[in-house]
Amino acid sequence: MVKVMVDDKIIDRLEAAIDIEDRGYQFGDGVYEVIRIYDGVLFTGDEHLERFYSSAEKIQITVPFQKEELLGLILRLIQENRVKDGSLYMQLTRGASPRNHIFPGKDTKPVLTAYTKEVARPVESLENGVAALIADDIRWLRCDIKSLNLLPNLLAKQAATEQGCYEAILHRDGLVTEGSASNAYIVTDGKIKTHPATNLILNGITRQVVARLCEKNNIPFKQEAFTLDELQNADEIFVTSTTSEVMPVVKLAGKEVGDGKPGELTRKLQTLFVQEFESVKKAHTL
Ligand code: PDD
Repeated sequence: MVKVMVDDKIIDRLEAAIDIEDRGYQFGDGVYEVIRIYDGVLFTGDEHLERFYSSAEKIQITVPFQKEELLGLILRLIQENRVKDGSLYMQLTRGASPRNHIFPGKDTKPVLTAYTKEVARPVESLENGVAALIADDIRWLRCDIKSLNLLPNLLAKQAATEQGCYEAILHRDGLVTEGSASNAYIVTDGKIKTHPATNLILNGITRQVVARLCEKNNIPFKQEAFTLDELQNADEIFVTSTTSEVMPVVKLAGKEVGDGKPGELTRKLQTLFVQEFESVKKAHTL
């Protein structure tokens, strides 16, 4: 039986029960993380935990465990489920309390849940690239918080899927912010640009890895907002996320990007990214 985590208990999935008045369920009042597991090894776990605590703090929820303790718990869950290539989903809500927009009192305990699943790397899409469309960014102004409230993201992703696209690239008044579930980048004349880590985007952990890899390898990387016009005339486009890694976008709004194949710099970053998680795996097994 597959195991899940509820608070600090690791139990059978069918034993898990959430109160019908859990505020995550009723209001989306909580935060979450998705962490990649490669060959049983957690990738960028510290960075994800850091963001989890920071998201929780921004909405005034206290994570009921110290970081080390929480890390220990999720490592145990991964081990008990014998996850090979997969992901860990973890969320924290403000807890269960009679429905009221006002925060409940201190006696209401936040509810932490987590589960794992097997997820294959999207190798075919990584190799050939994907299509994207352009959509209005209709989200709120605190996209830096990894909150459970994802309706605008879902609407954008659904519209993309219905039009045969993998992702929707969002913009506010002509300035590109990010994807519906990813960060977005352009390459123009050998230089990478992505929106700065402000309140208008989620500062992706994969984005942080890409920034680091660029710095290490002398690849020009600028955190600067770019226009729809720049997007539509870019030599290369890619999006990044925990599960999408460095994903080439080869078609935008029905038109080919460059020659319609993943670009050179995107390929280079893909190679560097694979080297990065391979070295983490190796370091873990030494
Ligand atoms: N989504 N921006 C948004 C809006 C996202 O939802 C995500 C990730 C990212 C990329 O962040 P990271 O590199 O840390 O995964 C950017 C996750 C994977 C999800 O909701 O499933």
